[in-house]
Amino acid sequence: MVTAIVGTQWGDEGKGRVSYFETRNANVVVRCTGGNNAGHTVVSNGQKYALHLLPSSIINPSVMSVIGTGVVINPESLISEIRLLSERGVEITPKNLLISNRAHVILPIHVSKDKAEEVLKVKFGLSKVGTTGRGIGPAYEDVASRYGIHMYDLLGDFETLSKKIKFVAYMNNFILGLANMNHYPDKECEQIAREYLEYGEYLKAFISDTKPFFYDHLDKESSIVLEGAQAAFLDVEQGRPPFSTASHPTASGSCTGAGLGPLFVNEVIGVMKAYTSRVGEGPFPTEQKNEIGNKIMKLGHEYGTTTGRPRRCGWLDLVMIKDAVKINSCTCLALNHLDTIGKLSEIKVCIGYKYHGKVINYVPVDHENCEPIYKTFCGNWSADGITKFDHLPEKAKRYIDFIEEYTGVTVVYIGTGPDNEKTIVR
Ligand code: GDP
Ligand code: IMO
Ligand code: MG
Repeated sequence: MVTAIVGTQWGDEGKGRVSYFETRNANVVVRCTGGNNAGHTVVSNGQKYALHLLPSSIINPSVMSVIGTGVVINPESLISEIRLLSERGVEITPKNLLISNRAHVILPIHVSKDKAEEVLKVKFGLSKVGTTGRGIGPAYEDVASRYGIHMYDLLGDFETLSKKIKFVAYMNNFILGLANMNHYPDKECEQIAREYLEYGEYLKAFISDTKPFFYDHLDKESSIVLEGAQAAFLDVEQGRPPFSTASHPTASGSCTGAGLGPLFVNEVIGVMKAYTSRVGEGPFPTEQKNEIGNKIMKLGHEYGTTTGRPRRCGWLDLVMIKDAVKINSCTCLALNHLDTIGKLSEIKVCIGYKYHGKVINYVPVDHENCEPIYKTFCGNWSADGITKFDHLPEKAKRYIDFIEEYTGVTVVYIGTGPDNEKTIVR
């Protein structure tokens, strides 16, 4: 049984909490794409964890956590995440963590180039992306150019690794120069190679080929969860160019990033919030740059888990959700922050776009030209901490019924508070 968990908006829908909730029945949880641009929050037994590279299952040592081939790993960040969690008593050993030897490596050169690319875009009169500055885009650029570094390189010899890093620097230094940023000369590349071999030494017990592991679990019919990062509208092809991340954070991207074919996937859970948020630049038709947006931001504590940036907030956009259901072939939805949205007196939901003189119900590439058509719901309900659907106020039930009717899929999980325990399962 393979279940994929994906974001249906612009990220931060609560994928981490849904993934952690799924660990109740899972044997294996896999992070498939992205890197430490992600921030997945899990609140369980009064403890709050912010995870960036490790799957949410890491908190539950009886589940095997895997970092798949499609992930871009900053090994320094990964090691500090492992150390921080270990200091908090989370057990992390090769018995519950496996890192694909094919996963990609983020170098300091990529972090510098991420910043350089943003500077150069603005200098050229183009819009910046508003990246997390973690080197994600440049690392994936090198993957596609086939000179990127892989985790297995960190287990090799100094000569080979330093030659490969020097080549990465050679191919990227020109761009850094254009942005008046420091080059990476050979000496510094050698220093990076030494440092990265040390990271390899620290991580080597966790690194291996994930293929025999997965094939064995498929044979045993284990329960495998693919924990997606980012979201459908941050996908490098489905988002509004250039305001996306550099990977494919969709169900099909998760398959590629884990190394499993799409027909193994039985369920795709699309995670959504009862409203919409976005960090970084890019169009956001239902954004509320006003008191309502501020209120949602405060009520939902909408500050980035990774960067601490306040998230832009606005009404739920069901056109996006329906589109994401198709992009991902979602079989069901998980709806978070039902408690948060109920605190507003009047709630709006976007059910169509006015677009170049027509009405449409999909997300076009020029998303900024969409004017939302709203349906209004009554708020002022309290869903806080409710764990049974029947106990929800009628007004909240009507909101959920409409989401199901509009999208054509069932809402199977409902978040009524940040804690894992505050979940309704249907
Ligand atoms: P992810 O990146 O998709 O895993 O989501 P994040 O962890 O970045 O952001 C989700 C935020 O919403 C976190 O602060 C969660 O603790 C919080 N959250 C998730 N579900 C709920 C919910 O049902 N109610 C409330 N109040 N907070 C929630
Ligand atoms: P989770 O998994 C929200 C956004 C960045 C920026 C754009 C590109 O926590 O939902 P990048 O650094 O990836 O090149 O930035 O993508 N972004 C996210 N926004 N949640 C995330 O992850 C994100 N990962 C990337 O803010 O707009
Ligand atoms: Mg997040």
